[in-house]
Amino acid sequence: MSLGFLKRIGLADRSGAYNSQRAYNRFLDDCLKRHKGNRDMAFAEAIGANSLETFRSQGDGHVEVLRHNGLADGMAVFDFGCGCGRTAQALLRSGWSGQYTGTDVVARFTAELMRKCPGYDAFVHTAPSIPAPDGSLDMIFHWSVFTHIAVEECFLSMEDSFRALKPGGKLVFSFLELTDRAHHGLFFDRVARYRRGRDPILMDTFLHRDWIAEFAEIAGFSAPGFTSGSDGTCHEPFWQALAAMEKPR
Ligand SMILES: C[S@@+](CC[C@H](N)C(=O)[O-])C[C@H]1O[C@@H](n2cnc3c(N)ncnc32)[C@H](O)[C@@H]1O
Repeated sequence: MSLGFLKRIGLADRSGAYNSQRAYNRFLDDCLKRHKGNRDMAFAEAIGANSLETFRSQGDGHVEVLRHNGLADGMAVFDFGCGCGRTAQALLRSGWSGQYTGTDVVARFTAELMRKCPGYDAFVHTAPSIPAPDGSLDMIFHWSVFTHIAVEECFLSMEDSFRALKPGGKLVFSFLELTDRAHHGLFFDRVARYRRGRDPILMDTFLHRDWIAEFAEIAGFSAPGFTSGSDGTCHEPFWQALAAMEKPR
């Protein structure tokens, strides 16, 4: 994005960097305007679901992936970039019991999650880190969050996830990859906007499996396993690709 454009629309901070907190708050404002009188729909759209049914079914899909990766009752789990609680609400529906913590850059999202999921904890956290004590978590997950932050922040978040996980704990997340043709539409829509001299509203980041594997190794994780977005072998296809890795015991 051009710095001039970002400053004009108020998304650049004083250093000129893209500010995801401001961008997402503005996006939520737009969704609330578009869906006046349907607050649930506005929140669902602001985190990427195009209907309430999709919001619900995607959340159920998230829980399926977590179960496949070893989610069990009694675990302490952390949802980085939790949004308004698509996964949290699905965890509650599924009957899972354990300690849930979520963080997001948007206060209205974490407040909505707390309202819909009494007993779950969610709060604002803007750094690319996991605000939890060393070795305290069984599972850290995030869906469509590395898709909206800088590659360097992805690395920092992975490094800090390693610190916060218990030995044997798991990090599971979704990402966009250009080697998947299904993700090309999103990328080339953005290319078209740039071609017309217009900048995208939100940052969209594409990662590569090799980079994730490299970051995992540097952070100390076991070699990650990857699942393509179209793979329905172990759970419903996720559409975004999935990475899963363990902190060695
Ligand atoms: C596409 S939504 C997904 C929300 C949630 N993970 C889900 O699947 O329902 C992306 C989320 O990332 C959050 N986000 C954006 N920038 C962030 C950052 N720098 N750190 C943490 N979360 C961020 C947004 O506020 C938003 O809730």
